[in-house]
Amino acid sequence: MKNKALLTTLLAFFVLLGVGVGQELGWFSSTGQSQAAKAKLGVLQFVSHPSLDEIYQGIQAGLEEEDYGEEKLDIQFLNGQADQSKLTLMSQQLIEGGNQVLLGIATPAVQSLANASKDLPIIMGAVSDPVGAKLVEDPEHPGGLVTGVSDQNPAVQQVALIKELTPNVKKVGALYSSGEDNSKSQVAEFKEAAEKAGLEVVEQAVPSTNELNQAVGVLTSKVDAIWVPIDNTIASAFSTVVAANQSAKLPLYPSAGAMVEAGGLASVVVDQFELGRATGKMTARVLKGEKPGDIPVEFFSQGKPVLNTQVAQELGIRIPEDIKKDAQLVEMSQTAE
Ligand code: TRP
Repeated sequence: MKNKALLTTLLAFFVLLGVGVGQELGWFSSTGQSQAAKAKLGVLQFVSHPSLDEIYQGIQAGLEEEDYGEEKLDIQFLNGQADQSKLTLMSQQLIEGGNQVLLGIATPAVQSLANASKDLPIIMGAVSDPVGAKLVEDPEHPGGLVTGVSDQNPAVQQVALIKELTPNVKKVGALYSSGEDNSKSQVAEFKEAAEKAGLEVVEQAVPSTNELNQAVGVLTSKVDAIWVPIDNTIASAFSTVVAANQSAKLPLYPSAGAMVEAGGLASVVVDQFELGRATGKMTARVLKGEKPGDIPVEFFSQGKPVLNTQVAQELGIRIPEDIKKDAQLVEMSQTAE
């Protein structure tokens, strides 16, 4: 009896050993090769709007360029639809999903990931003010688990464009969301640049998209033009801004190409796809094992002018040739009704 039990145990041991060795040698894999485990990346996007969607496309392109295509990388992608409780829940899901690196697209998404995770590397995608958002203390030497790519708004260039395209504008309304840490610092920077150039700035913060229509109504009665920072709340409901400005017809200067296409007049903007692409490449470095704390935050501040020729025509604005030759010229996009 005793011997038989021993024999069974030994047999089981050798069978298991055989399976183990077999797996090592790839005997049991259908392709005849041992399959290396795929890397796992969790992505949380704050909300859907065309700029963030474009950034995500850039991220995927950047990852692919660094050899993290579909066959090497599993991406668990979640979208929080600008809902704080969803963001919290989804951050938890991404942590529990076994992802080795987390990536947030837009400030509130990264903040939510950082609050939920204590030990996973986190990549910031398109965070305008990483220090103000309390995500890193020293962007040159992040030190901790968070690094990434930041989009800086080219405020000085935007002010120059406002002055050149609409020289009669004296008062500019700054329309932004009170809930986004990324917008506060942009408004302060814009205000400084605008005041230096002799413009007066009237701030109008909105708590959510529900108040947008009314806020634009109030603002149009006080100012000559409206400027919008790189703000997710406004970007996700920009058609409301355009509609509420229908009778006043003020020039709108929003800080993203997609908002210019959706009915803004003009802006100087950071290339969203390239921003995403750089983020994807940095994510690849961390997936390969580099510590986020050793990678300095990368800043995108180079702006390119973009102009909606259709809106310019409606407002009776003649575009100076020197602006026209450098700018990307767009017309109303399909979604801009
Ligand atoms: N920079 C924004 C943030 O920090 C996110 C963002 C990127 C964005 N591109 C945009 C917002 C375009 C509005 C429009 O959250």
